[in-house]
Amino acid sequence: MPLAVAPGLLLLLLLLANGTRGALVVSVATSPVRAQPGSDLLLGCHFSVGGDVDMEALVVQWKLGGRLVAEFDAVQSYSRAGASLSLEGLRVGNASLLLPRVGGSDAGLYTCSIIHSPSRESRQVELRVEAPPRVSVSGTAVRAGEHSTVTCSVNGFYPESVNVTWLRDKQVVGGPETPLAQLGPDGLYSATSTLQLVPSISHADANYSCRVQHITLGTPIQEPFWLSVLSQPRLTLLQPLVTLEGQVTLQCLVSGYHPPEITVQWLRDGDPLVTMESSPMKQTDGSFALCSSYILNHPESNAQANFACRVQHPALSTPLESTATWTVPTCTKMCLGVIGLILLVLLVLLATWIVYQCCNISMSQIHVGECFPESSVTVLLCEAEGRLRDTDSLTWRSPRLGKELGSGQPGELSTLMPEQHRVVTWRHRLGLGRQRLTSVLTVQTPRDEESFSCTFRLGARDMQQTQITIPGVAADCPLLDGDMAIF
Ligand SMILES: *[C@@H]1O[C@H](CO)[C@@H](O)[C@H](O)[C@H]1NC(C)=O
Ligand SMILES: *[C@@H]1O[C@H](CO)[C@@H](O)[C@H](O)[C@H]1NC(C)=O
Ligand SMILES: *[C@@H]1O[C@H](CO)[C@@H](O)[C@H](O)[C@H]1NC(C)=O
Repeated sequence: MPLAVAPGLLLLLLLLANGTRGALVVSVATSPVRAQPGSDLLLGCHFSVGGDVDMEALVVQWKLGGRLVAEFDAVQSYSRAGASLSLEGLRVGNASLLLPRVGGSDAGLYTCSIIHSPSRESRQVELRVEAPPRVSVSGTAVRAGEHSTVTCSVNGFYPESVNVTWLRDKQVVGGPETPLAQLGPDGLYSATSTLQLVPSISHADANYSCRVQHITLGTPIQEPFWLSVLSQPRLTLLQPLVTLEGQVTLQCLVSGYHPPEITVQWLRDGDPLVTMESSPMKQTDGSFALCSSYILNHPESNAQANFACRVQHPALSTPLESTATWTVPTCTKMCLGVIGLILLVLLVLLATWIVYQCCNISMSQIHVGECFPESSVTVLLCEAEGRLRDTDSLTWRSPRLGKELGSGQPGELSTLMPEQHRVVTWRHRLGLGRQRLTSVLTVQTPRDEESFSCTFRLGARDMQQTQITIPGVAADCPLLDGDMAIF
């Protein structure tokens, strides 16, 4: 404030002193003037003498502190390399000082003094050489459980000193420190600060930031970032699920991975298959798990095939794969004879069966598809088969919860309470006007024993229900590694 008032007062006094004679008025740029190191600066100073400037009577002096930087007194002289005044400018009252490639030593309080005999007048302007920092954070993709370094780069600042503080969810986890600054060829400083940590998957949910304090900043710069915590998936082939009708479901459990983006695919001898998968479930440790299934409707009896479950994930450099070999025992001659006989009987039975099946609708028991030892997820499968209508549906219910867990039209995904369970329903056309309706309930395994029922509704006509009780989280789970033989 005193700086602003004093020149005003001075001007007033001068005007009074000079009376009606051509008054000398000097004005400079508003103080402080800020300049980036390395830039060219024109430090403005203008004057008017109330008429033409008499170059014989004119003296111009620029001082930094007490030291003379530039002077015009009949001739020009400079003590600062590259500084210049414009002669044409002086004739029209422009005494601005050009300072090329401003550096830290140019900072300070400048005085622009104009003498136009007998008048004399000066103004002061402060030059600050400074540049605010740019802040960027790198190295945020880290691997769970591995020693990691996150870097906060502070660039292009002047003067030298910056303070860096690391925060996690508003708590200080590093610093404040004053990292060693390096002077670049552009006259600006750079510094880096690092945060060392061994991340766990739960760190991916934390809000981190790098906070930088510098003299040019009113409030510190806070650069937010999230850790992208990578955790590799584990792959487990589960015991295949074989229904009474001979339908086989191959199952692959993918667990322990982060982030949730993942591609899981079943392959048969290298060719991709149409795959069903449960949606990723978040585990208590923050990792994700899902189950991918492939359903073989008519397992051939002649071949051996390799079925592979393949996983692609950002934490993997190459896809992870686990293979199951399908082996079907061949039949002996004696067995062929028996089969011939059986076929005859079967033909007779078939005729009866077709007549019977046309009108009959059967419903399977509920199968426990799989369980997830770590994730505590249970998959239940329920089927109905016969001459179904498109309006027929399967519905899941948990009697204890007294809650309908949802049904679903083919291909439709239930959205009810998605964290707790998910229902996928699909429909196979089996020929002879028959259909099979399959519904899979994926549910968080209850803590204690709990019952689930699957209800089949034939439009508005009739209904059938089957029920299963699962023993809760203590259940053991059959696991299978490597090859498996079915049948
Ligand atoms: C004053 O002179 C400088 C050159 O020394 C020029 O760049 C600037 O534009 C002039 N200012 C005005 C207001 O004429
Ligand atoms: C992190 O920040 C987001 C928004 O930026 C906010 O929704 C969330 O609650 C924050 N989490 C914590 C743990 O502070
Ligand atoms: C950095 O921290 C030190 C010590 O806490 C303090 O003296 C200094 O003023 C700070 N510098 C900046 C630029 O905030």
